[in-house]
Amino acid sequence: MEVAIFKTADEASRAAACLIGRSLKEKSSGTVLGLATGQTPLGTYEELVKMHKAAKISFRNVTAFNLDEYVGLEASDPRSYRAYMREHLFSKVDIESARCFIPDGSTRDPRAECTTYEEKIRKAGGIDLQLLGLGQDGHIGFNEPSSSLSSRTRLKTLTHVTRAANAANFGGSEKVPQHVLTMGLGTIMEARHCVLLALGANKADAVQKMVEGPLSAMLPASILQMHPRCTVILDEAAASGLARQNYYREVFAGKPAWQRWDLPLD
Ligand code: F6R
Repeated sequence: MEVAIFKTADEASRAAACLIGRSLKEKSSGTVLGLATGQTPLGTYEELVKMHKAAKISFRNVTAFNLDEYVGLEASDPRSYRAYMREHLFSKVDIESARCFIPDGSTRDPRAECTTYEEKIRKAGGIDLQLLGLGQDGHIGFNEPSSSLSSRTRLKTLTHVTRAANAANFGGSEKVPQHVLTMGLGTIMEARHCVLLALGANKADAVQKMVEGPLSAMLPASILQMHPRCTVILDEAAASGLARQNYYREVFAGKPAWQRWDLPLD
């Protein structure tokens, strides 16, 4: 696990965008991106849009798979993650809409939808880079504590903590859908590169447990300790609980120039 700590949330978001931008440039045949929603990636999407407008990156050949969607919301519902992605990224870059995949939360057959979603990822050649946020209870995607560490895309029930964290968009936590379709931990672990972004002091406890705690289904993000290539991008507030902060900073500062992924793209 590489842990990169930046002073502010803006700097961390810019660094994440540079890392994603680099992966788009490296694979001209078309990067397969796994994408997240929520508050955390907003700054990163803003930076990616800026980089696209400055003609530094193109999404023309990109295929995108989102992690999750609420069950019971139509794609046109402004509270859906499809609407979120349209608003914050897809409508602002040159990605082909036919290559933007999000689980269909309005399906009548969630099980079939989840199986098909897994097949689509496989057909696309698997995910090159999976962007992840982190729940305060340690979830990634919507794999809540006690999720199987080898789970696949499926229907899950949100915890009260997660529903409360997402209450603003719905006008109260009791109005947040109880169920979601989410990629599983096994699905996420098959991405060739996992990039987890966590910002703010309310994530510090989950970050510390994910990076330095024991591997446990009770803190689903700790499965990333088993990933051969996982980059954790933090601001200082989110990193504040880490016992080995100084060591992570030393490692990152000592990287040779050719390994730096956080520098602005030409
Ligand atoms: C969203 C997702 C979730 C969020 C997490 C953090 O697609 O998969 O795991 O990343 O709930 O949410 P925010 O960023 O709103 O704190």
